[in-house]
Amino acid sequence: MKKLIAGNWKMNGSLAANEVLLTELAQGLTSQPSCDVAVCVPAPYLAQVQALKAAQAALSCVEVGAQDVSAHASGAYTGELGAGMLKDLGCCYVIVGHSERRQYHGETDLLVAEKAKAALAAGVTPIVCIGETLTEREAGRTEEVVKRQLAAVIHGNGHCISEIVLAYEPVWAIGTGKTASPEEAQAVHAVLRAQLKAATDQSARVKILYGGSMNAVNAASLLAQPDIDGGLIGGASLKAQDFLKIIAAAQV
Ligand code: 13P
Repeated sequence: MKKLIAGNWKMNGSLAANEVLLTELAQGLTSQPSCDVAVCVPAPYLAQVQALKAAQAALSCVEVGAQDVSAHASGAYTGELGAGMLKDLGCCYVIVGHSERRQYHGETDLLVAEKAKAALAAGVTPIVCIGETLTEREAGRTEEVVKRQLAAVIHGNGHCISEIVLAYEPVWAIGTGKTASPEEAQAVHAVLRAQLKAATDQSARVKILYGGSMNAVNAASLLAQPDIDGGLIGGASLKAQDFLKIIAAAQV
């Protein structure tokens, strides 16, 4: 399966900084990568990023994504972003259920499943994030937690589950510099793969990304694992040279 390297810029960037970052990326993308590449940018910059992409041929391989979406299609939901609006702005992906949204915005498993459904209905691929906290891992509850989080999305999306991208992001590894070892990550990915297999005969289509302090140094060993189909990269996606190295590590 083609790997997917997706950057999650989180709440970072500016008009000036985005232009520098994408220009450096374009300069480094001298040949068409054999993996899929995406950048999930803050919503106010979606149009700018699309314009920069249109202006630089080397960026044609970089898909654009958003970082959140409303569970509702449209209406009186001040401040929310409709999936149809993201589609209008050329988004191919949208991150849903990131741990920062679960933690700081009280997003539940049910809401995350509804957001994934809204994205799919608009033709935008949801990158559904799941992962355990340090306390849950230390209590031996990793498998139970990620299975519960994925089960909600499977339950809410039926046969469409094969259309999602899944991202396993252990909360304790996000922004901490502590990465799950390739073996630790693979063990969880194998559990998730089995759960998807039980839910759909199209499970082989679902990419399962790893996220959490993936960087230019550790990417290759993580991406070499049989059930790790790519990465969701925070901090290192803000540095063009690091992101390019991760893309290079994902070449098959
Ligand atoms: P870091 O790569 O900065 O740890 O962030 C991971 C992440 O949360 C991607 O969604």
